[in-house]
Amino acid sequence: MSTYKVALVPGDGVGPEVIAEARKVLDALEASGGGMSFRYTHFPWGSNYYRETGRMMPEDGLEEMKLHDAILFGAVGDPDIPDHITLHGLILPIRRAFDQGVCLRPSYLYEGVNSPLEGVNPGDIDMVVFRENTEGEYAPVGGFLYHGMPEEVAVQTNVFTRRGTERIIRAAFEYSRKRNKARKVTSVTKSNAMAYGMVFWDRVFDEVAAEYPDITTESLLVDRACMDFIRHPQQFDVVVASNLFGDILTDIGAIVTGSMGLAPSANINPDGLYPSMFEPVHGAAFDITGKGIANPLAAILSAGMMLEHLGEVEAAGRINRAVESNLREGGVRTPDLGGSASTSQVGDEIVRLMSV
Ligand code: NAI
Ligand code: MG
Repeated sequence: MSTYKVALVPGDGVGPEVIAEARKVLDALEASGGGMSFRYTHFPWGSNYYRETGRMMPEDGLEEMKLHDAILFGAVGDPDIPDHITLHGLILPIRRAFDQGVCLRPSYLYEGVNSPLEGVNPGDIDMVVFRENTEGEYAPVGGFLYHGMPEEVAVQTNVFTRRGTERIIRAAFEYSRKRNKARKVTSVTKSNAMAYGMVFWDRVFDEVAAEYPDITTESLLVDRACMDFIRHPQQFDVVVASNLFGDILTDIGAIVTGSMGLAPSANINPDGLYPSMFEPVHGAAFDITGKGIANPLAAILSAGMMLEHLGEVEAAGRINRAVESNLREGGVRTPDLGGSASTSQVGDEIVRLMSV
């Protein structure tokens, strides 16, 4: 029997609603005698914690979190607190402190799900974006000069290190080899305009690509890549991008495969020195918070990615197959997919499907 220590951070908005369903699915797996159990620590961090304490999490919070095998995260964001405070107060520090430099975000068009695009069939869209996750455009480097004065200057610095850049690009190539599909890696760049960081990115990409002669490569400017994610997403296999570009592209990847509510992600610490974190791609979703209609499948699939990471491949497969059946059958789905089921009804249905 393997016991895993899981840090649960439901966070804000729909985060707690969808994490409750992911937890329900993990509980069912545990109860079904799959040879694994989970010990949870609940971290009540986020915007309400901020309202009470002036911080999104305690100063020494990561010390305790570090002792876990994995982190399951909901979402962060609050209509009354500026986004840079919430994001830079919770999720970005976790990604950096635990050196989760590799963010993996699959987009797959499931059978039974309609893409807003015409002429794409189930399985046609099947890509994985590797997003650099600890630096790039989201490095907290910069400042204000003459703050609030008419001559104010804001400086925001992008940071591209050899370690971070090479790490994400290499991870994309390694994954492409294992994936056994088209064996193509697309690099997303903007070196025409960003003449240092992105020129460096291209150079590192070419260097790493030379070590993988069995893999086809291409390099697209980010604006062109956005267009092609909509025009012919079928042509992508593995895509590697900087922190900002990967963030933007994966919202497109989510919506062309049916819904934000279906897109999972993994933030991996490649050395295994710290816990990796699993979370839906979506955010706090203010427009549907508290209505009980958020799609929990992104969070449930993220829990599946967590199990896969922990080596529980069979259990991860059970989750994935249950989600596939649920989407194929189509009877129990939330409004974002055209249904009328609630968040918890979908969670219950996944549990039911795992046992049939
Ligand atoms: P969002 O991802 O929260 O919502 C975008 C759209 O997708 C909305 O129409 C929402 O209703 C829909 N959606 C999202 N999750 C859904 C689900 N599970 N089921 C059905 N529909 C779903 O992005 P938005 O509106 O830009 O950001 C809202 C807040 O979330 C902001 O404060 C932002 O900073 C934060 N955010 C946090 C993230 C995180 O915690 N990792 C990621 C993205 C945004
Ligand atoms: Mg995003």
